[in-house]
Amino acid sequence: MMAWLSEWLGRGTPAVEPATVHDVPRLAQLHGASFHRGWGEGEFEAMLGERNTLVHRLRLGRKIIGFAVSRIGADEAEILSIAIDAGQRGRGLSRNLLLTHLGHLAGRGVRTVFLEVEENNQPARRLYERAGFAVVGRRERYYKQPGGEHLNALLMRRDLS
Ligand SMILES: CC(C)(COP(=O)(O)OP(=O)(O)OC[C@H]1O[C@@H](n2cnc3c(N)ncnc32)[C@H](O)[C@@H]1OP(=O)(O)O)[C@@H](O)C(=O)NCCC(=O)NCCS
Repeated sequence: MMAWLSEWLGRGTPAVEPATVHDVPRLAQLHGASFHRGWGEGEFEAMLGERNTLVHRLRLGRKIIGFAVSRIGADEAEILSIAIDAGQRGRGLSRNLLLTHLGHLAGRGVRTVFLEVEENNQPARRLYERAGFAVVGRRERYYKQPGGEHLNALLMRRDLS
């Protein structure tokens, strides 16, 4: 298929790129559809303006289908959020997004990356484990669900060499 046509149809190879302020509405939409407490446009806008926050978008053709956000402090970083459009999940697309994001963190001098993940979130746990993260802690009843249920969090860590 001609390159422009597959791009127009939203096929082809997804690209991991720095997010810009133009992406804010779509990022907030994706976040809101992926998490109970969605981040608003203002939150994304603020993060994009912070030097210590790294936001990448995953673009397929003209469509943004995912993002990764982390915050850097000295030589450590925390992945604050990562998500893929629900219609595009299960295709392995998050792996390149995460690995590219980690590469940029390493380029900023980060040596250790942390994240928290809900214990039952198997796709996310699998993604992180395959990307070299290991469980280093567990927080009981850490996430409160809208229905009042509490879920445990795992703390994961990966060293970047
Ligand atoms: C987590 C998330 C980013 C993964 O993105 P994705 O591109 O769909 O992930 P993949 O297709 O690479 O799947 C990741 C792994 O989980 C596995 N997986 C997918 N669905 C699964 C399920 N229901 N149960 C168990 N494993 C599952 C896949 O097989 C894959 O493992 P593999 O690499 O060993 O085959 C995506 O599911 C998402 O956006 N979830 C909502 C937001 C979220 O939870 N973010 C993480 C917060 S910590």
